[in-house]
Amino acid sequence: MRQEESKFPLFSKKKQAEVDPSELKIPTHLAVIMDGNGRWAKKRMLPRSAGHRAGADNLKTLCKNCGHYGIKYVTVYAFSTENWSRPESEVHTLMELFVEYFDRYDPELEKEGIRVRFSGDIAALPQNVQDVCRRAEEGSKHRDKMTLIVAFNYGGRREIIQAAQKLAEKVKAGQIRSEDITEELFAQNLYLPDVPDPDLIIRPSGEERTSNFLVWEGAYSELWFSDVLWPDFGMKELTDALIAYTKRDRRFGGLSQEKKGEE
Ligand code: FPP
Repeated sequence: MRQEESKFPLFSKKKQAEVDPSELKIPTHLAVIMDGNGRWAKKRMLPRSAGHRAGADNLKTLCKNCGHYGIKYVTVYAFSTENWSRPESEVHTLMELFVEYFDRYDPELEKEGIRVRFSGDIAALPQNVQDVCRRAEEGSKHRDKMTLIVAFNYGGRREIIQAAQKLAEKVKAGQIRSEDITEELFAQNLYLPDVPDPDLIIRPSGEERTSNFLVWEGAYSELWFSDVLWPDFGMKELTDALIAYTKRDRRFGGLSQEKKGEE
């Protein structure tokens, strides 16, 4: 029991009655919508930028906590294709924070063995942001403990449209026929075709929607919502999400194990 207690630091007796800690299912790929920074700041009478800063700090905590559970891929929604409609000053703050973050935390990411990748319409970002993306990706290629995927200037619909455009170009060039387009071929033309689909998508802050996040990849993801605002989302909340995930019956359109035996 001592060992279990240290491996699952926030696994209270009550939680152990719900799920045996040794049977906790760990998603290969966890995706998180980092929502609620503005409300977190407002509650403290701070500017929204302080909320985004606290949100960025909490990303470090999330990486540590996911590393603790051995989660291999973590995708976070940092800036959506719709976020450009926010006031220019807020967009600027988010871009600056992004640049600052990777310069400041790269040594820590290195220590934790975290590879960094980006998903989104990166080519449409300001040049200095694109440079940060390239540097962070190149410099972290060798790390293999966990992959942090930052969805930046990301929109699920835009990702699907861009995949469709790539395929249309291939048809036009005579490289493939339109009837060759299958789900597999389509998926190979998305932003990160080698990354497995997310098993679990978490959204804190009380909103219950996916807001154009991983539209294709999340077709069969389990969803988990929490009222806690993103900057306060810690180990306890992650553990609660993993317990809920463990109890889900993932059927992917088929039958559950129990029902398969029934006929
Ligand atoms: C949503 O909260 C959050 C965002 C649009 C930005 C998320 C960005 C970060 C956590 C920091 C930057 C990321 C990196 C990788 C350094 P909101 O502002 O919509 O909150 P609200 O709904 O309470 O107003």
